[in-house]
Amino acid sequence: MAAATAKVVCVTGGSGYIGLWLVRLLLDRGYTVNATVKDLNDEKETKHLEAFEGAESRLRLFQIDLLNYDSIVAAVTGASGVFHLASPCTVSKVHDPENELLAPAIKGTINVLTAAKELGVKRVVVTSSVSAIVPSPSWPSDVPKSEDCWTDEEYCKQKEVRGSFFCTYFQDKCFGDHALSKVARENYHVASILRDVKLFALRWVDIVVVNPGTVMGPMLPPTINASMQMILLLIQGCTDTYENFFMGSIHVKDVALAHILVYENTSATGRHMCVESISHYGDFAAKVAELYPEYIIPRLSKDTQPGLMRSKNGAKKLVDLGLEFTPLEQIIRDGVESLKNKGYLS
Ligand SMILES: NC(=O)c1ccc[n+]([C@@H]2O[C@H](COP(=O)([O-])OP(=O)(O)OC[C@H]3O[C@@H](n4cnc5c(N)ncnc54)[C@H](OP(=O)(O)O)[C@@H]3O)[C@@H](O)[C@H]2O)c1
Repeated sequence: MAAATAKVVCVTGGSGYIGLWLVRLLLDRGYTVNATVKDLNDEKETKHLEAFEGAESRLRLFQIDLLNYDSIVAAVTGASGVFHLASPCTVSKVHDPENELLAPAIKGTINVLTAAKELGVKRVVVTSSVSAIVPSPSWPSDVPKSEDCWTDEEYCKQKEVRGSFFCTYFQDKCFGDHALSKVARENYHVASILRDVKLFALRWVDIVVVNPGTVMGPMLPPTINASMQMILLLIQGCTDTYENFFMGSIHVKDVALAHILVYENTSATGRHMCVESISHYGDFAAKVAELYPEYIIPRLSKDTQPGLMRSKNGAKKLVDLGLEFTPLEQIIRDGVESLKNKGYLS
């Protein structure tokens, strides 16, 4: 087993929307990064990573398949920390959701944690989601939701809520892709399995969790990810209110920084809600309309998330670690300008 070096970390999903920002910030901080991609021969995945300052001497790329344990071992070898972001998240039609979405998400997390334990990794940061916090209708409506709040699996089962993977949720709603109904019904499992993974992992390896809201801001990858599709869809007139999963927005750079803060502060434990504020999707849509009157933004009702108490202090744990959240206006401006620059909007 290679000796783990303090400054070597592994980032799974390094070619993704959040992953690219995280790799960039880690390189800026002097880390050596083992970043994973799905296909080393695909320039769309590698080119942006290789262009970062410091990449030439301190970035190593690994091809992994989340279902292939050995491929993960190669990427984690020598690292003292792992950031586990890789997870399927798509807006394309999914023919076999069980195998294409759920298996890599769940088995992949277990594979990464197992490799981390076997290879003597000191700390693992797992990227979860606010979708492991909501929907939780029995939480008192006069108390802001916090890291203590867990997605209500029974409610999801009864209502067939498509909440835990927002991408499949809005794919189903906005693209009418009913092939996803099966995975949509079962997605509540992802939240519970993340919880289970967390519990068993606690006995194995030091693990800390980030729960981002809807991530927006400048896009580094050449392709658009699921959360940036959301703002694009809104501007294109989609009236979905994401009732069961929206909890607030967050700047992509802040999410990346949150991962580093919880990694470096070994006193940080458990989950970390990562939203600029706990807010309703209607607040977000109204702000987009105010900032961009040239687009015809649907007028949504004020309380698009019934029972969700708004709060400026939702991410107090991260604020206490020193994170200064980018305000909503800037998140929206950075997101929309990036969509324009990449040609998604005129
Ligand atoms: N964006 C949000 O609003 C948001 C909110 C909460 C939580 N999250 C979580 O944050 C993480 C990153 O999200 P993102 O928005 O950055 O998504 P993204 O842009 O779609 O990135 C996902 C990454 O995972 C990799 N990946 C997917 N399936 C894989 C597989 N089977 N084997 C190996 N690698 C695989 C992708 O590789 P390729 O580039 O090759 O496809 C990509 O690098 C995910 O865990 C997501 O659930 C995101």
